[in-house]
Amino acid sequence: MSQATTVVVTGDRTTGPLHLGHFAGSLQTRLQLQEQHNPFLLLADTQALADHQGDYSKVRQAVIDVALDYLAVGIDPKKSTILIQSMVPELAELSFYMMNLVSVARLERNPTVKSELRAKGQERDVAAGFLSYPVSQAADITALRGTLIPVGADQLPMIEQTNEIVRRFNRMVGEDILNECEALLSDTTRLPGIDGKGKMSRAAGNFIALSASADEISAAVNKMYTDSNHLTVGSPGQIEGNVVFSFLDAFDSDSVKVAELKAQYQHGGLADSVIKARLNEVLQALLGPIRERRNELAKNPDEVLSMLLCGSAKARQTAVLTLHKVKKAMGMYYF
Ligand code: TRP
Repeated sequence: MSQATTVVVTGDRTTGPLHLGHFAGSLQTRLQLQEQHNPFLLLADTQALADHQGDYSKVRQAVIDVALDYLAVGIDPKKSTILIQSMVPELAELSFYMMNLVSVARLERNPTVKSELRAKGQERDVAAGFLSYPVSQAADITALRGTLIPVGADQLPMIEQTNEIVRRFNRMVGEDILNECEALLSDTTRLPGIDGKGKMSRAAGNFIALSASADEISAAVNKMYTDSNHLTVGSPGQIEGNVVFSFLDAFDSDSVKVAELKAQYQHGGLADSVIKARLNEVLQALLGPIRERRNELAKNPDEVLSMLLCGSAKARQTAVLTLHKVKKAMGMYYF
């Protein structure tokens, strides 16, 4: 199989609108990649249901929310093909065939799935669909013929498992039908949650949504963890683990000013309220225009949906071709 062209495939499990952590990481990578490649950007609603059994309306709304977030930050449907996982049924079909190429023991060993289950306190009582979501991800990637997959570190086991399945399939059919892929690890720092306890995530509830109102932004900044030992303005404060400074590093373009604030804070004599006021200003300036664009776009949900239908139809053309080859190699042709 020719790997001459780079096919970028990436996506988000659609469990809710995106937040600043996505903005600092995956969205920046995607904005860059869309300038050179025509990435497939997958709204993983099927995968979301493995995680949110029966929450149909929530997942449906999340698809629209994430699409609005993409458009608001500058993902351009002319440059990126945005598709809905469930609108390309070939992805589900390929998952089903791939399910026979991976053992239950292997699924149970996937470190990301393992830690997600632990976090849910659900280690023993797990939906089959959840345990096997790495297989459906392998199907997404290979059906769309992805070669370069931008992911965060937690998704590396998915890429490894995808390539295992690809090798197994090709070996079984005796032909290189599916291609292996490579992870593109986003090198942007992982943005901490506002509580300073691990990275920002929707599940942990420590996030600032991209669509946050001005008041929500201010409230989040006020609550933000700084340094629990910085009890008086005069005492020296710590930068390490200080969420306000992590955010300033990520979003304040005036790095000279940030360096000054850091020096003053470490020395003592700079109140938390001062660094928070600075961050509030920076975040309001960053998110204000995104929120406005998002609100504009949200006025025409039909346009957003028709863009998604177009993207899904385009992606489907590729998936149909792949499935045709896969099924032929498996002897599943009866005409
Ligand atoms: N697992 C990814 C997430 O949790 C979403 C996803 C589904 C994906 N299919 C994919 C990512 C294919 C990259 C490629 O966000």
